Amino acid sequence: MELRIHRAKLSNLYQINSLCEELLGSSVGSREEIFRKALKNKDYLCLVAEIGREVVGFIDLWAFPDVAHGAHLAQIQNFVVTKKMRGKGIGTKLLEEIIKIFRDKKYHELHVWAEKENEEAIRLYKKLGINNECILLEMEEWE
Ligand SMILES: CC(C)(COP(=O)(O)OP(=O)(O)OC[C@H]1O[C@@H](n2cnc3c(N)ncnc32)[C@H](O)[C@@H]1OP(=O)(O)O)[C@@H](O)C(=O)NCCC(=O)NCCS
Repeated sequence: MELRIHRAKLSNLYQINSLCEELLGSSVGSREEIFRKALKNKDYLCLVAEIGREVVGFIDLWAFPDVAHGAHLAQIQNFVVTKKMRGKGIGTKLLEEIIKIFRDKKYHELHVWAEKENEEAIRLYKKLGINNECILLEMEEWE
């Protein structure tokens, strides 16, 4: 069946939730509430990859105004393809599409963070041109 990539709708919530569970386990808050809010925000973009009626992956991006650059920058926040469908080029397609939108919107920089051990994802990001390495430090409040 054909792979389709399109903007997420509220009706994709259930399947996006399953993908988030694969990635992170259960949520610390309400995914539904946050997703509803995010979809209404013009600075949020979420793409899903669908085969038939199954959402097999998604990627999302936030744009934010940066005073120092005097421009909008963007950050990829979530990127996941369901386990059984990995290694088939779906992640590459999602990432290519989001990079295209990033360019069309003329955001100034594109950021993404990854755990150091996640070599596969890092290799993919670099292959598609996201290759300036920086360090992101994190403090988690709810452990
Ligand atoms: C990162 C991720 C989204 C990539 O999605 P994907 O659909 O597997 O990506 P692709 O099929 O386009 O493959 C990406 C690269 O991984 C390689 N790969 C090979 N077998 C693979 C497998 N079983 N699983 C994953 N990647 C594989 C591919 O060959 C490709 O490398 P290449 O372009 O040099 O050939 C996916 O692995 C994933 O969901 N990982 C868990 C969540 C995660 O780590 N997200 C990123 C957070 S920073």
